[in-house]
Formats: sequence, structure tokens, C-alpha cells
Amino acid sequence: MTDAADPFFDAYNRDDIAYGETPAPGVQSIIDLSAPKEPRQLNALDLGAGAGRDSIALAKSGYAVTSVDLSEMGLERINQRAVAAGVGERVNTQAADVREFDFEPSKYDAIIATTVLDHIPATDAVIVWKKILDSLTQTGLLAVEVHSSEDPGSDLPPGCDSTAPKSETTGAVVNYFSPNQLAQWATENSANLRILRYEERLEWDYTHGPEHMHGKVSLLAIRKGNSPEWYGQPRLFPRRDP
Ligand SMILES: C[S@@+](CC[C@H](N)C(=O)[O-])C[C@H]1O[C@@H](n2cnc3c(N)ncnc32)[C@H](O)[C@@H]1O
Repeated sequence: MTDAADPFFDAYNRDDIAYGETPAPGVQSIIDLSAPKEPRQLNALDLGAGAGRDSIALAKSGYAVTSVDLSEMGLERINQRAVAAGVGERVNTQAADVREFDFEPSKYDAIIATTVLDHIPATDAVIVWKKILDSLTQTGLLAVEVHSSEDPGSDLPPGCDSTAPKSETTGAVVNYFSPNQLAQWATENSANLRILRYEERLEWDYTHGPEHMHGKVSLLAIRKGNSPEWYGQPRLFPRRDP
């Protein structure tokens, strides 16, 4: 994909790579919850993986990660970062549209979608959401983030009335989620999910371009029927070390 066709090319092509290296909070929670206990190889799928902050953290914790993105520049960064971190063999990058990706049923122990379901039209997002659910194992963990209608880049109120600064990549977001929308999806019986954390919030973003505000929705969920050792985040009352 050329520079002109990739709205994220510049953000991933600079020295100070967009979004930094710290994984999204839901992804860190997945790492805390899953990786150390399982003897078998765990599989993760990172949709809209960008420059790989989530993929690399998952690979470092032991997951075999499939990283899917449209941005060739982003995928190049992921491969560079994976090799530099010594986890090149655990990261498989795929240049693909998430709408065309071949989701294998019950394949992934963790699925990550950090701000990608909002980069495709609403009707497509519902279809990809259902494919995500089908592709998650019976003990699988799911971390999803989307921009909400509170985002200053939103075409819907209240975001469209906000005067707060917008992200340099606002133009790539086409589907702002309304209040409770993701919670409704996640609580439908057919989703077969148990929510561990759900939040709708405003946040400042200092990870790329001039500082700007976002309206965000984040979901951390596990398959229904599972009771992980979940102590919440932030961990106000962490367990004592044994
Ligand atoms: C806001 S960035 C987030 C990147 C990464 N998830 C992170 O949080 O660091 C959104 C990413 O989604 C990718 N993207 C947008 N639409 C996509 C699509 N239809 N299929 C695959 N990737 C897509 C973009 O190329 C971009 O890298």
C-alpha cells in the first residue's frame, strides 16, 4: 500500500512511532490473566494491530500472535520490533482488511481489537464482531476499544459540538459508537461473554501528534462460564507476594 493510500503511514514512519510501546490496558490485563499459567501454546489475534504495541507485548508474554492490518508500514514496524524483542518467531503479520480476514472457528485464546471496529462502517463492524466471537475459544479473552460519539472527531453529538483538539488520524474513524452500544453487543446471549470490565470515558492522548482528546469505550471480557483470578484495574488492593 502506498503512502497516499495509508492514512497511518506518517504516524508509523517517524522515529517516535505512534501509540508508543505500552499495550492498551485491556491487553495488559489479558497478559496478567492468562500467560503464566498455561503450559500449551496460546494463540492471539490482534486486529488493526498498527505498529504493534499490543502484539509485541502479547508475544513477549508467550502468545503466538497473528497481527492483521492494512498498513504495510505498520506491519514493517511490527516485524522490526518483534525481531528486536527476540520474539520474531512468535509474531505472524498479515496485510489484510479485517473484513476479508479468514477467522478460524474457536482458534484464539485472546482476541484484540484496539480501535479498528470504529475504522470500518457500522454494518461491517457487526459482521466482524460476530466473526470475532466465533473465533474465540471457550476460555478465550477479548479486549476491544472503540471511539465513542463523545470523541471531538465524531459526527454525532456530543462529540461534534466539542472544541477539544482532535487526533491527527481522526479522518480514518468512520463509525463512532453510541453510549452502551458495545455493552449491548457484549451482553447479548449469543455473544456468550462475561464482562470483566467495561468503561466509557474521555481521555487525553499524548502518544502521537499534538496532544488531543478522545472519547473511548473499552471492553475486557471472557467467555461465559469462566472465573479467572481477576483483581481489577487499577489494582487498588493487589495480592501480597506469596
Ligand atoms: C488507531 S490505529 C490503532 C493501532 C493499534 N491497534 C494500536 O492501538 O496501537 C487503527 C489501525 O487500524 C488499521 N485499520 C483500519 N481499518 C482497517 C481494516 N479495515 N482492516 C485492517 N486494519 C485496519 C489501521 O491501518 C491502523 O493501523
